[in-house]
Amino acid sequence: MEITGQKVIVVGGSSGMGLAVVRAAQARGAHVMMVGRTEEKLKQALETLETPERVTPITADITREEDVRALFEAVGPFDHLVVTAAGDLSYQPIKEVDPDKARRIVDSKLIGALLLAKHGSTSINSKGSITLTAGIAAQRPLPTGLVVAAVNGALFSLTYGLAIALAPVRVNVLSPGWVDTPVWDVIAGANTPTMFAQMAQRLPVGRVGRPEDIAHAALFLMENEFTTGTILPVDGGHRLV
Ligand SMILES: NC(=O)c1ccc[n+]([C@@H]2O[C@H](COP(=O)([O-])OP(=O)(O)OC[C@H]3O[C@@H](n4cnc5c(N)ncnc54)[C@H](OP(=O)(O)O)[C@@H]3O)[C@@H](O)[C@H]2O)c1
Repeated sequence: MEITGQKVIVVGGSSGMGLAVVRAAQARGAHVMMVGRTEEKLKQALETLETPERVTPITADITREEDVRALFEAVGPFDHLVVTAAGDLSYQPIKEVDPDKARRIVDSKLIGALLLAKHGSTSINSKGSITLTAGIAAQRPLPTGLVVAAVNGALFSLTYGLAIALAPVRVNVLSPGWVDTPVWDVIAGANTPTMFAQMAQRLPVGRVGRPEDIAHAALFLMENEFTTGTILPVDGGHRLV
């Protein structure tokens, strides 16, 4: 099944991997809803697209249930939901773990995904799909990224549960390795180029990821009708090193 002519919602679509998914889905002829919290960021992302008139920007914060409800009311029936959103990520050594910061990570990546599944489930095409995004931290955590690791692991289990609960709608989760996106400004700041160079040497594929690598996998998960409850690592072999 190709997504040509289908309605695809990309939550997190204004940056990084989500923006690459918006581009890839649009290139395939899908109608794309690009969702994020910040209007200005959505506007700037639209300006980078070749055919922005075929993409609808929608402002919503997925940690707020009223925003999620309003999002699906505005969109109406749709075919696919891809979630790459992650805001309020923070990294601390174990002795400095702050419960409020930890809860914000859980809200942003886990509760947000749950709310999207809850409210999206009533208007998604039964032949459609939901794709969540976890990450390599589930298996190769940074010592300062314990909560991010835990949330990514929880997203694997949430995906198994949703694939059963929402069947026949298919539900899968992408698990990216290190990918060159703006999130690294938060994770490593000025150290990013050095960390990427070191990681590239370690990885079997010899480079860190590009957002397009993830978008390619997201297209597969939307279009392959026999794939559900799957954790799809797209990590350049990071799990092996
Ligand atoms: N980049 C990596 O190396 C890497 C590795 C493994 C896993 N991941 C995971 O992959 C996913 C995508 O990461 P990325 O690198 O593409 O991130 P990114 O460039 O920072 O993009 C995050 C997107 O999510 C949106 N967003 C954040 N919080 C939101 C909320 N509460 N409601 C709605 N939209 C929200 C952001 O827009 P606003 O800020 O305007 O809301 C932005 O569009 C994340 O789950 C991340 O944890 C990334």
